[in-house]
Amino acid sequence: MAWTKLAVIGDVPKDSVIEVEHEGNLYAVCNADGEFRALSGVCPHDGGPLGQGTVSQGLVVCPWHMWEFDPSSGACPLDETLNVPVYPTKVEGDSVLVDLP
Ligand code: FES
Repeated sequence: MAWTKLAVIGDVPKDSVIEVEHEGNLYAVCNADGEFRALSGVCPHDGGPLGQGTVSQGLVVCPWHMWEFDPSSGACPLDETLNVPVYPTKVEGDSVLVDLP
């Protein structure tokens, strides 16, 4: 595990999500009501780009089929068997740091 800077806070306005590629992996870094979170950027439903989605009512919405994921737990309210990996995230200064495996 290593804290890695994936974004600066200005990159991720409130209630938005961005796609970040790091060492060949895709991540979705979101700001849900002021809380920065990082998830896998690959939707567990069918591989959609979660980081190209939106944030609605605190949930990350995949752009392909609009399934929603809780950015704090990775849970999918539509299908409790689906879960997207989430990673510990913190802000230091203007940096969004993510504890990557
Ligand atoms: S691929 Fe994300 S909802 Fe279908």
